Amino acid sequence: MAFKLNSVVPWGRNIDEYKMMFILNDDDMKKKIAGFGDGPAAFNSEAKKAGCSVTSFDPIYQFSREQLQARIEEVRVTVMQQMADNKDNYIWINIKNLDELENIRMTAMNKFLDDYDLGKAEGRYIYHELPNRLDFEDNSFDIGLSSHFLLMYTALGYEFHINAIDEMLRVCREIRIFPLCDLDSNDSEMITSVIAHYKEKYNVEIKNTEYEFQKGANRVLVIRK
Ligand SMILES: C[S@@+](CC[C@H](N)C(=O)[O-])C[C@H]1O[C@@H](n2cnc3c(N)ncnc32)[C@H](O)[C@@H]1O
Repeated sequence: MAFKLNSVVPWGRNIDEYKMMFILNDDDMKKKIAGFGDGPAAFNSEAKKAGCSVTSFDPIYQFSREQLQARIEEVRVTVMQQMADNKDNYIWINIKNLDELENIRMTAMNKFLDDYDLGKAEGRYIYHELPNRLDFEDNSFDIGLSSHFLLMYTALGYEFHINAIDEMLRVCREIRIFPLCDLDSNDSEMITSVIAHYKEKYNVEIKNTEYEFQKGANRVLVIRK
């Protein structure tokens, strides 16, 4: 897939959301974590400040800070309009309204931008597109995370997802994927097939999360070697 800047819609979450989506406890946060498709999330920068080890992978890390900042500003109004149009698909309890949502997302993405050049130099933001092979040894990470990418973009197809998850499982001892629904909040046939596939070889668990913003997006898939 060729990644063009004008087709990227950057939108990122923060560390509190990551901890709730992935049920990351204090012990988990002491482990070596890899984030796949972290994009402009603040997870990496906030984890670094807390003394944790997080390496993020995403195709958007091929772009410069200036390019990403400009693109974030460019799509901000459109994304917020889409959120307003689809307001009923979300639960407005933890995040109370659209203004608060915009503030939380922009704060997260600004934290990412402020950390981006340093993080790249430190090897914490690595340009990589799943399912390509990573330049890392087997089991380099304890936990691999995918938030709002794998299993959600079902149009990428079953084979894409299997190849991507295989590569995550090569470099990580355990992976967690959130949420378990597609972009329309439906459980898809593909998700069922993916889970059945990994159950044959690995320890597969589905856990309920306290986090639920998109209605129905309240389960995390955990696959352990
Ligand atoms: C909806 S965003 C989620 C960002 C972040 N994980 C969060 O939850 O805040 C999806 C991310 O997946 C990334 N992505 C798209 N295709 C990818 C691929 N083939 N491999 C890895 N990441 C990809 C996008 O660039 C984008 O940053």
